[in-house]
Amino acid sequence: MIDGFLKEIANMFDFTRKDACEMMRSFQIEMENGLKGRKSSLKMLPSFVRRPKGNEKGDFLAIDLGGINMRILAIRLLGQGKIETIGMKRFSLGKEIISKTEDVFFDFIADCVSAFLKEHKLDVFLEVGFTFSFPVIQTSILSGVLVSWTKGFAVKGVEGHDVVTLLDKAFKRKGLENLKLVALANDTVGTLVTQSYINPLCDMGVILGTGTNAAYPERLESITKFKGMWYSEEMIINIEWGGFDKIKMTKYDEQLDKDSENPGGQRMEKMVSGRYLGEIARRIMKEAFEKGLLGSKELKDIFLKPYSLTTEQLSLIASDKNIFNDSGIEGISDKDIRLLKEIGQIVSKRAARIASAAIAAVLTHMDKELKLEHVIAIDGSLFEKYKGFKENMDTMMKEIFPNQADKIHLSLTHDGSGIGAAIIAASLSSH
Ligand code: GLC
Repeated sequence: MIDGFLKEIANMFDFTRKDACEMMRSFQIEMENGLKGRKSSLKMLPSFVRRPKGNEKGDFLAIDLGGINMRILAIRLLGQGKIETIGMKRFSLGKEIISKTEDVFFDFIADCVSAFLKEHKLDVFLEVGFTFSFPVIQTSILSGVLVSWTKGFAVKGVEGHDVVTLLDKAFKRKGLENLKLVALANDTVGTLVTQSYINPLCDMGVILGTGTNAAYPERLESITKFKGMWYSEEMIINIEWGGFDKIKMTKYDEQLDKDSENPGGQRMEKMVSGRYLGEIARRIMKEAFEKGLLGSKELKDIFLKPYSLTTEQLSLIASDKNIFNDSGIEGISDKDIRLLKEIGQIVSKRAARIASAAIAAVLTHMDKELKLEHVIAIDGSLFEKYKGFKENMDTMMKEIFPNQADKIHLSLTHDGSGIGAAIIAASLSSH
């Protein structure tokens, strides 16, 4: 019975080479449409940033906000691709912060910054790069309006408003007079910029964490919707690929989407990223219960509650750690844990394969015949920590490019999202 169920699930979640090739084609059409300002599920947002030269220098503060863990960093750029982190601290944004109002939210950020400056005895004048990893329409390097929250954030009074102005006002309220906001960036842009500061071959930044998205440098003449002034022939585009909606969905994806806080939005993100993989697996496990396929009744409560199974737990199970040891639940059979592990594998394998297909689509948009070497900067816990995720991505890449996959280098880029904002800030004073 269980085998039959698993086989059915595996078939449903199969993402073949053919699916990948079809996805790449429609992904590229959506990219073109997005660049031209036509209707598209890919926003293709101009970032007002180009790749750095590697000689940018100076001390900067970076605020990296894109999930419930906000990071604040003090960064020293030494030139020649060298970066020193003077200080770094994580602050957790609880549920009460991410669902309150704009002033409570930005005051909290300003308070964290203030605590960080005190702790590191930083009372000098500092330029600040702000990484804000949500879909933002920028009109300059220092202004951007939030289109809509993603990843479960729901702070009132921010959508439709300029997030730099909101943060700046909070700085003023909190008396942070020696800080000057100079740059606003997405985490994908920051990650790309950080790796290309170190390695000029880098031409793509990807996040595979709580959310998923990517950025790449585009020729200015191809961004036909862009009517502003820009001093370079290239501009980095924030794709917002989490919104891509031309992939076949299973009934579990449909249901998850319907019950989510943003139905219809972030379809690809809901199939790929860390915020959702645990939830997809939970929904499948719940069905296994209902079909009487599981032995341990005690588990039922866990699988009944939405989002009670996290991707982190799924990842622990993938590495053969027993997440139920400390839960007080007894009598969980090995068989049930094995089922959960298999389901985790099916769900994460599809996610990794979709991620590779999306990367392949962007690469062949930039370099049709894949003539050049490409370094892809990737950050995020899925890519870094989930057992087998990178291997699954590599396998898909080899299936897509049987003879050229060795030209594609997936390179883990730690803290790139925050550091990148500092590099962008530095590049503003150097061009
Ligand atoms: C979500 C956000 C996007 C961000 C990504 C990764 O998709 O909309 O801006 O880059 O998460 O954090």
